[in-house]
Amino acid sequence: MLGPVILAASRSDQMRRFVSAAPGTKQVVDRFIAGETVDQVVPIITDAADKGLEVTLDVVGEDITTPEQAAAARDAYLELIERLKDLGLGAKAEMSVKLSMFGQALEGGHELALANVRPVVIAAAAIGTTVTLDAEDHTTLDSMFAIHEELRKDFPQTGCVIQSYLFRTEEDARRLAAAGSRVRIVKGAYKEPAEVAYQDKAEIDKAYVRIMRILMEGDGYPMIGSHDPRLISIAQELAHRAGRKLDEYEFQMLYGIRSDEHLRLAAEGHRMRVYTAYGTDWYGYFMRRLAEKPANLLFFARSILTK
Ligand code: FDA
Repeated sequence: MLGPVILAASRSDQMRRFVSAAPGTKQVVDRFIAGETVDQVVPIITDAADKGLEVTLDVVGEDITTPEQAAAARDAYLELIERLKDLGLGAKAEMSVKLSMFGQALEGGHELALANVRPVVIAAAAIGTTVTLDAEDHTTLDSMFAIHEELRKDFPQTGCVIQSYLFRTEEDARRLAAAGSRVRIVKGAYKEPAEVAYQDKAEIDKAYVRIMRILMEGDGYPMIGSHDPRLISIAQELAHRAGRKLDEYEFQMLYGIRSDEHLRLAAEGHRMRVYTAYGTDWYGYFMRRLAEKPANLLFFARSILTK
């Protein structure tokens, strides 16, 4: 019951101010956010590489309100890519981007987001890596898929995310399970209405399995984004049945969640990519992590009350 309330709060400016200023917040935020600056995240990337893990980097931010903020978001990614190039880490680190941070919701936002994300995709390709477009709420997805298709004309390795809680996703998965495509499947982290999305956890999980099967049996590169042990073992079984080798799909999990599992899967020979978020505009990302697990909220409340 708490999840939808927290997700509603994730869009409230008043709550943003309260949570950001509360004593004790930082301690909990640090569990999910790898740092505020590129300098702080670099040791985390190198440490992950030393442990046999790969990363996808998210400069946190979303729902910006001016074209200048969108340009600043683009520049933050370009700075990150420049740093990865200097460090020779291009092959180990991909980028994940939210198009709302690149101006998608502003007037003329579809074109603006495409214009801002393109230089990031070009810069990523120049250092031997790629970009995945995160999935945000359902109203943004037609635009996201159109931008994805446009980018793939020149950069076919550009990835995108699909969410099993949405009714539309099986059809999207069939379209996307084509040669050369890279698709991350997740359950979905936004508050969606019953007209477009399953509300029941069991239905979301069943849809996840159906979609994984489509991706594993297809010709693309499936990226399994989940911490759910049951879905991870089903993914392994489906990959085996589809005759996929270990380097023909990958697992992805979030920084700070089930870190022992990251290492276990990597040790088994799987490609394991840790979604590593950093930056100062962490509020929306943080609140979605709280919504996913009520115990996080208790931990958060306790850390505020004990400060
Ligand atoms: P589930 O929520 O059932 O969790 C399984 C277990 O994992 C829990 O029992 C718990 O042990 C642990 N766990 C999960 N979440 C936790 C948390 N926040 N804190 C502590 N423990 C937790 N969503 C989206 O809408 N668009 C996107 O682009 C992305 N991108 C993305 C990338 C990657 C790499 C991952 C792993 C996830 C996303 N998501 C996302 C988020 C996704 O939609 C979903 O909300 C979370 O992954 C939680 O779902 P699980 O599949 O982990 O299962």
